[in-house]
Amino acid sequence: MELNKLIRENLRKYSAYEPVEQPMEDGWVKLNTNENSFPPIPEVLTDLKKAINEKLRLYPDPTSFELRKEILNVLLRDKDTLTNRNSIFIGSGSDEILDVIFKVFIDPGDEIVIFYPTYGLYKVLATLYNAKINEIQLNEDFSIPDNAFSAKGKLMFINSPNDPNGKSIGNATILKLCGSFPGIVVVDEAYADFSTQTCLPLLKKAQNLIVYRSFSKGFSLASLRIGYALADAEIIKEMNRVKLPFNTNYLGYIAALSSIKHNKKISEHNEKILEERRRLTEVLNKYDGITVLPSDANFIFVKFEDKSKTLKFVWDLKDLKILVRHFSKPGLYNYIRVTIGTEEDNNNFLNAFRTIANKYL
Ligand SMILES: Cc1ncc(COP(=O)(O)O)c(C=O)c1O
Repeated sequence: MELNKLIRENLRKYSAYEPVEQPMEDGWVKLNTNENSFPPIPEVLTDLKKAINEKLRLYPDPTSFELRKEILNVLLRDKDTLTNRNSIFIGSGSDEILDVIFKVFIDPGDEIVIFYPTYGLYKVLATLYNAKINEIQLNEDFSIPDNAFSAKGKLMFINSPNDPNGKSIGNATILKLCGSFPGIVVVDEAYADFSTQTCLPLLKKAQNLIVYRSFSKGFSLASLRIGYALADAEIIKEMNRVKLPFNTNYLGYIAALSSIKHNKKISEHNEKILEERRRLTEVLNKYDGITVLPSDANFIFVKFEDKSKTLKFVWDLKDLKILVRHFSKPGLYNYIRVTIGTEEDNNNFLNAFRTIANKYL
């Protein structure tokens, strides 16, 4: 059998998404994948244990009815957004939502617009679906450049706050892009639970906007895979037509519902992450040759004036069992992205950083 002749033609040139290191053994300070530093709260774990005892043999609700209702009525109650239950889609993590969006809109050869740098999965899926990619370089301060307002295509992807730099894109800019772009503008708000900004209110003004969010980051449920998208009901209808019948899992569903019920308490934990973000930023900014970019997310982007020192820090931190993220990509060689950990994780990181800085800075 010649497998290469059987698989889809564009898979021959396709490079799959490469997830970063996920060591499963204890002893690592993991500041490399932007997970929430706190585990789910005990109330959520109690509801999960009950769910394990009761309903695992059954398929989950394919319409995610209760979860859609609670997201709109409770979680987003103060966000001035769409309130129609047919305007919300539940996915197996926000990554699945992204895949569903490609499935709905992209025929081979269609053009999509992404920015650089940003979350890598947009480009990977665009290649998988054989889309033509128009990659627009962000300005030096990671803002949207003027040429984006004349871009054409079927889909445009904006990540706000943007991974890896942590900066949000303002609503005036997003609304202007919705006006100038002929296709659908997709805003990935996976990290918006750590930001004071959201573009959810724009959904009432722009019909070509999809906003999606995640329970992975703000609600500590990355392993249970729940995300949600809001958009005009006509768009959501198409997304529901192409999704797999039982795309979410029951435990994730229950954990998300329980997290919504206890969302005030979870927000208090996230407040601690924001306090730690302020502290890490302040301490690191005191080093000569180091600048921390302002962040609206649960990570910071740390710039080294001297590019040659960046990888030395990454490797030395790893020797001390601390993982941070480095991107071997144009324009990013002199940065590391550091997830905000618990106070203890961050102290370990800062102590290790000081030791390494004494050697190299
Ligand atoms: C920008 C961005 N969007 C989406 C995701 C994936 O989120 P989820 O766990 O909801 O699939 C990530 C994960 O790191 C991310 O960085």
